Amino acid sequence: MKTIVVYNSKTGFSEKYGKWIAQELKCEAVSYKNMTPDKWKECDTIIYGGGVIAGKISGVDKVKARPEVKGKKLVVYTVGATPMDAREIIDTVKNGNLTKEEQKDIPFFYFG
Ligand SMILES: Cc1cc2nc3c(=O)[nH]c(=O)nc-3n(C[C@H](O)[C@H](O)[C@H](O)COP(=O)(O)O)c2cc1C
Repeated sequence: MKTIVVYNSKTGFSEKYGKWIAQELKCEAVSYKNMTPDKWKECDTIIYGGGVIAGKISGVDKVKARPEVKGKKLVVYTVGATPMDAREIIDTVKNGNLTKEEQKDIPFFYFG
């Protein structure tokens, strides 16, 4: 089982969390723009993270649509300015980015 953390980070927060996660899991953390076709193919589990911009998780739709991601385990985390205890707002972000069907398979984590 090969896991990779892929982050899409404009100001560095999703990158920081991605690197912390990768350090714990002893796996690689790679910026989305540096992902190669081989790297996408090699991994079985993808932990993807990006900042919340106007309610959208940066790049998550592109990642979900990638053929190499389909059929693999995907985990999504996002980083925003919303406080961690603002449960309703965070649920709105989750529901706005992952369908109910997707939420059954894709664990979602928010860091704020
Ligand atoms: C234009 C813009 C829109 C944003 N919209 C949201 C938002 O809807 N919800 C939220 O919690 N944070 C919002 N933020 C804050 C970012 O999600 C936060 O700065 C995040 O750390 C950015 O991730 P990054 O550092 O990985 O790029 C917004 C920031 C910008 C610049």
